[in-house]
Amino acid sequence: MDVVFPRSNKVRDTNWLAHAIQLIETDINRSADTHLIRIELPRAPGIALYIKDESSHPTGSLKHRLARSMFLYALCNNWIGPGTTIIEASSGSTAISEAYFARLLGLRFIAVMPRTTSTEKIAAITFHGGEPHLIEGRNTSETAHRLAAELNGHYMDQFTFAERATDWRGNNNIAESIFAQMAKETDPVPNWVVCGAGTGGTAATIGRFIRYRKYPTRLCVADPKSSVFHHHYADRAVTRVEACSSVIEGIGRTQVEPSFMPDLVDRVVVVPDTESIAAARKLSEIIGRPCGGSTGTNICGAFTLIQEMMEKGVTGSIVTLLCDSGERYRSTLYDDSWLSSHGFDIAPVMQRLDAVFGQAH
Ligand SMILES: Cc1ncc(COP(=O)(O)O)c(C=O)c1O
Repeated sequence: MDVVFPRSNKVRDTNWLAHAIQLIETDINRSADTHLIRIELPRAPGIALYIKDESSHPTGSLKHRLARSMFLYALCNNWIGPGTTIIEASSGSTAISEAYFARLLGLRFIAVMPRTTSTEKIAAITFHGGEPHLIEGRNTSETAHRLAAELNGHYMDQFTFAERATDWRGNNNIAESIFAQMAKETDPVPNWVVCGAGTGGTAATIGRFIRYRKYPTRLCVADPKSSVFHHHYADRAVTRVEACSSVIEGIGRTQVEPSFMPDLVDRVVVVPDTESIAAARKLSEIIGRPCGGSTGTNICGAFTLIQEMMEKGVTGSIVTLLCDSGERYRSTLYDDSWLSSHGFDIAPVMQRLDAVFGQAH
């Protein structure tokens, strides 16, 4: 897979660059870290589950951290200058966060995304000053490349640079934040961290950090059934599937992306969409506010590991991610008529989840 490095024809404007970095640093200084929520498991004594709530970032998802890193990476590679138009291919979350930082730097931002993206996400991009560019199908990166060439802009390309732009050794990346917030818990070093993969950047950051800090913690990726990642994990020769038709936005891909690092993953759990939706609803009942679909996929991954630990009599802790708020899916995953019109019957799965999570109070 050829990585296309942007050719920079940007004249280095030292003052503008210094000011741009200053703006991002002051934004970091104004921001608080996200919370770690402990979920009681009445039916699984000795096992604790923790949810890293990334929906509390200013732009509402785990992509706030990535967008910040991507802008600093592009600025310091001299790929962005005063007046550069920023383009991204995104199912929404990354575009929402990048629109925020583009506006912070006074730059135009265009988000190329599938026409099927939820109306809530399109509204959030516009709210942060971004311009949605909707296309048929899911091949957004090709259009983003073309637009960047036509507008002499910069294509951020999260799928290629997510794992490179994030500082996996520290700088308050998501893994460092998780382990710091676990430090005073009964089992401070989790047995497992569970996350999904869209670009694969989050999994790469967590996988590297665990090794760098010499923790025995293992990394589990929860992947939608129609995605390519679990096939690729089982057989590296498989780099593409027919089409990833999952309705779970943000994770699952048709082709393996450059930022997905299977060698850092200890386990992959395959999750059908019905189960992801049910688990997102179940967690929403437990914490009292809606969670996004990919959070449900993570919960299913954690659920499988918890059941195995219960069977083996293993105790300890598991951490997973609340990637974004369910408010963005009011008209889809949280709309019963939308679910039934798409053939999703979540009731049996909700009951099964009670085996570990118990009835919501
Ligand atoms: C809601 C949501 N969850 C999870 C992910 C996966 O994160 P990553 O791209 O780091 O693999 C994304 C990525 O866009 C996302 O939007």
